[in-house]
Amino acid sequence: MSRLIHLVCALLFSGLCSVLVAQNGSVLGVPPWQQASLWPDRIIQNLSAAPANEIAINWRTDSNVASTIAQIAPATADARFDAVATTVVARTEPVYLNTAMVDGLAMAAPDNFGLGVVHYHSVVFDGLQPDTLYAYRVQGADGAWSEWIQTRTAPATGPVKFAYFGDAQNGILSHWSRVVRAAFIKAPDARFFLHAGDLVNRAARDFEWAEWFQAGSIVHSSVPSVVVVGNHEVQPYGFEEQRSERVLSHLWRPQFSLPEDATLPVSLQETVYDIRYNQDIHLFVLNSLSQETEAQANWLDRKLAASDARWKFVTFHYPIFSSAGNRDSAGRRDLLLPILQKHSVDLVLQGHDHTYARGAIGQSPQRLALGHDTEVDVMFVNSVSGAKMYELKPDGWDSYAEYGVVLQKAAENTQFYQIISVDGARLTYEAYTADGQLYDYFEMVKGSTGSKSLSVGSRQTLNARRFSNTADYENAPPL
Ligand SMILES: [Fe+2]
Repeated sequence: MSRLIHLVCALLFSGLCSVLVAQNGSVLGVPPWQQASLWPDRIIQNLSAAPANEIAINWRTDSNVASTIAQIAPATADARFDAVATTVVARTEPVYLNTAMVDGLAMAAPDNFGLGVVHYHSVVFDGLQPDTLYAYRVQGADGAWSEWIQTRTAPATGPVKFAYFGDAQNGILSHWSRVVRAAFIKAPDARFFLHAGDLVNRAARDFEWAEWFQAGSIVHSSVPSVVVVGNHEVQPYGFEEQRSERVLSHLWRPQFSLPEDATLPVSLQETVYDIRYNQDIHLFVLNSLSQETEAQANWLDRKLAASDARWKFVTFHYPIFSSAGNRDSAGRRDLLLPILQKHSVDLVLQGHDHTYARGAIGQSPQRLALGHDTEVDVMFVNSVSGAKMYELKPDGWDSYAEYGVVLQKAAENTQFYQIISVDGARLTYEAYTADGQLYDYFEMVKGSTGSKSLSVGSRQTLNARRFSNTADYENAPPL
């Protein structure tokens, strides 16, 4: 019956089914910030595999723009810096919002009924100088240019700051926008923003990506993003018995340009990758949703072994140590934790549990538990940036005591962004609430032998936030 309703909906009301309806029943239509046009929108910059010399950009138009271009020039003090701009022809691909190819079959994407074909465009500007300010612009139809957008390539060495976010997922435009914008204001010199999965709730639904791009707007075009696949970036396509398994959203690869790795299977491309950001920093991104966990673990082990970067960050969606009830991911922990420990990964950045939890495996669990300075092995963070919240596990990470991990700071009912700063042998970590208050903080200093001393410092942080001492969550209107 529901299949029939969907079909009737598709045939008779196309143009209405995927659009918003107000509480009084009136049709709101597709919002202007979702509607594709001859003008470029959803402009986003991603880190390529060579961020000192390349800038990767994606954008979107309607399907009337069959081919287009982008331009780049060094950003100087000259009013007409653009006189020496270089033009690059974009790669263009159509995306059928209503359907996706799954295992060679065209499957329906019911969330997008009424929406047609859009064109995604991408360029990689290459041959650039490190740590140099550039301005780029992208075109839709002939003459339909974006503004010139300034951005800086990666420095070979020197201090680097970046932001990390847990799940946005729900109320993206209404409630997540303030977090991503607050992070941009707190750290306008952040070199990239890392999103650890569940950027949206229903990943085939164009409306939610429209919200994500609208929420980030100039942040997404000005600061490169590193994006990670979460469980909400995969979903089934089709109807009832024809429904597919959960597969990666058909919007993921067209709307981002992420590093590809020929040593990985096609099924993991642009979801598993590493980025050697500069001499000091190496990022490793895994796909928690792929069943090819062993292939990923082997890849990670090999990549970490080959890296001589001073600081190694690994990010994926499902936490090694869960902080919300009944969400343990034991199989992945058994596979990945030994690799993270073997290579003494510095920081593991995760999402999924809609709580905040940060803790470490170190030389002395007692000193970690007391919040004293001590040697650490691997530090783990679960965070959340959107407004959907879960309760913390009542015993914290006590059930993981056999692994020697100690939970050092946790929170409920709070949206966060994190700023991570690397300056030579010193790493500074700050977790901020959406109103800019420091909630969690530590410093890590790396010795010449690779040992890491954790310093809790003397900066004032907020007291523990729980449902019991924060404003009512349950009785707020739905997101
Ligand atoms: Fe999740």
